[in-house]
Amino acid sequence: MQEQLDQLRTAFAEALEAATDTGALAAVHHRWLGAKGELRTLFGQMKQLPAEQRPAFGQAVNALRGDLEQAFFAKQESLRASVSADAIDLSRPGPRLHTGGLHPLAQVQDRIIEVFTSMGFTVNEGPEVETEYYNFDALNTPFWHPARRDSDSLYIEDGHMLRTETSPVQIRTMQKRRPPLRMIAPGRVYRNDKPDATHSPMFMQVEGLAVGHGLTFAELKGTLLEFYRRLFGRDTKLRFRPHFFPFTEPSAEVDVSCVFCRGAGCRVCKQSGWLEMGGSGMVDPEVLKEVAIDPEEYTGYAFGLGIERMAMLLYGVDDIRLFYENDLRFLRQF
Ligand code: DAH
Repeated sequence: MQEQLDQLRTAFAEALEAATDTGALAAVHHRWLGAKGELRTLFGQMKQLPAEQRPAFGQAVNALRGDLEQAFFAKQESLRASVSADAIDLSRPGPRLHTGGLHPLAQVQDRIIEVFTSMGFTVNEGPEVETEYYNFDALNTPFWHPARRDSDSLYIEDGHMLRTETSPVQIRTMQKRRPPLRMIAPGRVYRNDKPDATHSPMFMQVEGLAVGHGLTFAELKGTLLEFYRRLFGRDTKLRFRPHFFPFTEPSAEVDVSCVFCRGAGCRVCKQSGWLEMGGSGMVDPEVLKEVAIDPEEYTGYAFGLGIERMAMLLYGVDDIRLFYENDLRFLRQF
């Protein structure tokens, strides 16, 4: 009997010695100390012994169990301690990975492009560093126009400037393409403005231009109405207010019914029920002549809309500066 106990003790010691990781250690525990392990089997054999031998046997097995457990826990501790601080701990939760995303203005720009391309408009681009010719002269803006002052516009040198509007892309496009044409040009523009909740020296516009046979003011209004309905919902209304722009005649400012109160009047629309979105009009014959398009044969309409304004309304953002501060707590919400 003692022999059997000694054998078990030796086999256990060898197995424990050979175990070098937690998996092997668990297997050792299972085989000898587990609920159906070898020690249990030994206890089970006690019934076969004559009654007077049982107490001594029980004591011996219990003592053995104490020894094995002690050896086991000691080994477990030493294994734990030997795992150095920089070893890979596969049980640890992994680091959180942040995925990148599109800037909210890029998302709105994508949506604008989607809607207008579905209506047959192409997407065109022009440089952000423009010449005064494209930004003003070709757009029928006289030299004395207040927008040309350096209190309003940012000049570089040699007649170059940061474009103040996306309208110069109209000229560049008409120089390259003959009518009929329908294009939009989303992009950044720059003005000599102090930043506040509604102004940023850099902001975005989307320009639109259509030139063809017999295009009318009604088509301009219908196009903008459909655009805003796709953006803000089918019940959106559109309103034109008479205005003046050097490059359109007649010209109109574009209002949409307030996206928050649906026209009833609220804080955002200052109780008017309407929100200003941009400018529009019929392309001035002088502009068509500048790019050698005959205004007797062709007419055109144009518009220039603020992209931040749309983003602020779509996402409920009340300060334009948030789009340019790149605070990740803001950007991660989109
Ligand atoms: N360029 C004008 C601005 O920045 C907006 C504008 C108005 C563009 C009327 C147009 C237009 O194409 O027809 O204030």
